[in-house]
Amino acid sequence: MIKSIKKRLFRTDGWLHRQIVAEFHRQWYDSAHTWRENRFLGHRILQCPLDLQLYQEIVFATRPRFFLQTGVAHGGSLLYFASLFDLIGADASALVVGVDIKLTEAARALNHPRIRLVEGDSTAPAVLAQVRALLPAARGMVALDSLHTADHVAAELLAYREFVAPGCYLVVEDTNLNGHPVCPKFGPGPFEAVGPFLRGDGDFVCDDTLWRRNFFSFHQHG
Ligand SMILES: C[S@@+](CC[C@H](N)C(=O)[O-])C[C@H]1O[C@@H](n2cnc3c(N)ncnc32)[C@H](O)[C@@H]1O
Repeated sequence: MIKSIKKRLFRTDGWLHRQIVAEFHRQWYDSAHTWRENRFLGHRILQCPLDLQLYQEIVFATRPRFFLQTGVAHGGSLLYFASLFDLIGADASALVVGVDIKLTEAARALNHPRIRLVEGDSTAPAVLAQVRALLPAARGMVALDSLHTADHVAAELLAYREFVAPGCYLVVEDTNLNGHPVCPKFGPGPFEAVGPFLRGDGDFVCDDTLWRRNFFSFHQHG
């Protein structure tokens, strides 16, 4: 009897389960010592390891021609994707391109033949022209991880959709902001940009199947 009540209480689609997962998500996000201190091969990487696992699965399954990320910070994610491309035996033309409004010393010091950096506002026409010049005629995978206001993400979605290959992913990062479930006072953020984009763009659909397997993601619904 107790076992069956417990089973019902903690059902993975149930209210209590969702509360526990959301509380763990908040605790883990708010700690100063979790994602803010994570490193990949010695380089700071501002990501949740559960998401890095999913990124690895996506890259293996879709084998994108390139990976393009807005928001570089310390560059750990760029090195992660460049290393994944090495591991799956991608050819040398599979570049990893990072765009940041102010490149850090750590990003500039990245030493990997696949990595290219562009400095400037991710939505500036001159920056987009530089990205296009680096990725002629190819389409691949894109992750948006720069300024997390809804307006900026909405502008990025319109600007970077052209770089996404059919069957590949356009990841809107940090959709957990503004109370989904972290940082409730953030204001409209990535999550708020995704809905209007999807309603206005029939070429993209939201894939929630991958992250749900791991209970939560910093980029859930993104
Ligand atoms: C969350 S961090 C990126 C973390 C990184 N992607 C990682 O996984 O480790 C956000 C970065 O976005 C950059 N940024 C902020 N506003 C930007 C803008 N308008 N255009 C491009 N980059 C911007 C910041 O300089 C910062 O380095």
